[in-house]
Amino acid sequence: MAIEIDRIRRDFKTLGQNVNGKPLVYLDNAATTHKPKSVIDAIGDYYRLSNGNPHRGVHDLGVKSTMLYENARDAIGKFINAKSSSEIIFTKNATESLNLVAYSYGMNYIGEGEEIVLCISEHHSNIVPWQMVAKAKKATLKYLYLGDDYRLKADEIHSKITEKTRLVSIAKMSNVLGTVYPIDEIVDCAHKMGAVVVVDGAQSLPHYREDVQESDADFFVFSGHKMFGPMGIGVLYGKEELLNKMPPFLSGGDMIEYVEEQDTSFSDLPNKFEAGTPNVAGALGLATAIEYLDKIGFGEIEEYEEQLTDYALTRLSGVPYIEIYGPADMVDRGPVISFSIEGCHPHDIASIVDLDGIAIRAGHHCAQPLMNYLGAPATSRASLCFYNTKEEIDILIQSLKGLRKWFGYGS
Ligand code: ALA
Repeated sequence: MAIEIDRIRRDFKTLGQNVNGKPLVYLDNAATTHKPKSVIDAIGDYYRLSNGNPHRGVHDLGVKSTMLYENARDAIGKFINAKSSSEIIFTKNATESLNLVAYSYGMNYIGEGEEIVLCISEHHSNIVPWQMVAKAKKATLKYLYLGDDYRLKADEIHSKITEKTRLVSIAKMSNVLGTVYPIDEIVDCAHKMGAVVVVDGAQSLPHYREDVQESDADFFVFSGHKMFGPMGIGVLYGKEELLNKMPPFLSGGDMIEYVEEQDTSFSDLPNKFEAGTPNVAGALGLATAIEYLDKIGFGEIEEYEEQLTDYALTRLSGVPYIEIYGPADMVDRGPVISFSIEGCHPHDIASIVDLDGIAIRAGHHCAQPLMNYLGAPATSRASLCFYNTKEEIDILIQSLKGLRKWFGYGS
C-alpha cells in the first residue's frame, strides 16, 4: 500500500505552518522529527487524566501510571523484538543510554591495553564517553575509516577488530553521510573476538525496523524525539545477562530493594537502572509514536523514503557546483544528504534558505572527527522522512540556485 501523503501530513500540525511568509519545508528530521497528533494527545491525556507517580502510589492514579509506563516498555520491547521487557531501560535520550553503557559496562569490563573500536563517522555522543573510559582505564581507542565511497570495507572491519578489542560502538546510520553500516558483519566479527557491540540506532530506527535478536547486538540505543516521539525519553536495550552483571549508573529512589544506613541492595532489571521519578508521559508518547509508525508500515516508509532520497540525490548532484558527502547511490544509504556549495558557507546557506521557509542544518553535525577526516569543517544537511515530498525537494533546489545568484555567481 502506498503512503497517503496528504492524510499523513494532516496528522502533523507543525508542518502546515508558514515560516518567513512561506509554507514550511522541514528537512531537518535527523536533528528532530515532528510529532503526530496521536502522540501529542497521548501526552496531554496522560497529564489530564492519569498523572501519578508510578511504582509508588497504591492509589488509583499511581496504579494507572505504573500500568501505562510498563505497557509502554512492553510495546517498545516487542517493537525491537527484545527477549524480555526487562531488557528495555528508559533513559532521557540516546546520549544518556550510551553514557550508561560507557560508565557501567566500559569502566568495569575494559582494562589497560585493551581496545575500544569506533567508526570515524560517530556522533560526539558515541565518542566522548568512550574517550573518558579509554583515559580512565588506559585502554586504546581505534577508529574504522571509510573508503572513497563513504562506506566501510570488510578489510577495515576485520583488521581493526582483533582479540584485543573489548567493545565496538557504532551508529547503524551516519547522521552526516547517510551511510548504513554492515552491522551484522561487525557483530559477527566482534563476537568471534570476544567483544561486545553497542549499536546507536538514533538515526536508523525512524527509517528501518530493528530486530535485536536477529542482529545479535549486545546493546542498542535510541532517542524518542528523532522518531516522532517526545524529547526527554530514550531507550537502552541490553542483553539481560550483560545488564545483570553491570552496576547501577544513577542511584536513588526506585532502583533499590533495601536501603540500610551504610549499604543498599538494588532492584532487579529494569528498575536497577531507573533512579528517580521516570518520564511516564515520554514513554507513553514514544510507544504511541511506534504505534503510529506501525500503522503506516515500515515497508511502506522504507519504499517511499528510498524514492524520495533517490530523487533528492539525483536533483542535487545534477547541480554542478553542489558537492555531496555520502554514498552516491541508494545501496545501504538512508535519507540524510550532506552537501556543500562552492563559494557559499554552509551556515549562510542554512540561514538564506530559511528565508524561503526551508529548515536544514549546517555545521559539523556533532561529528568533528568525521569532518576533519573529510577535510570539510562544515556541511549543509537535508534530512528527509516519510512526510516530505518531491515538491519540497524542488523548492530546496530552487532556493539553492537562487542563493548562488545572490552570492554573485551567474548560475
Ligand atoms: N544528532 C542530531 C543531528 O544530527 C542533533 O542533527
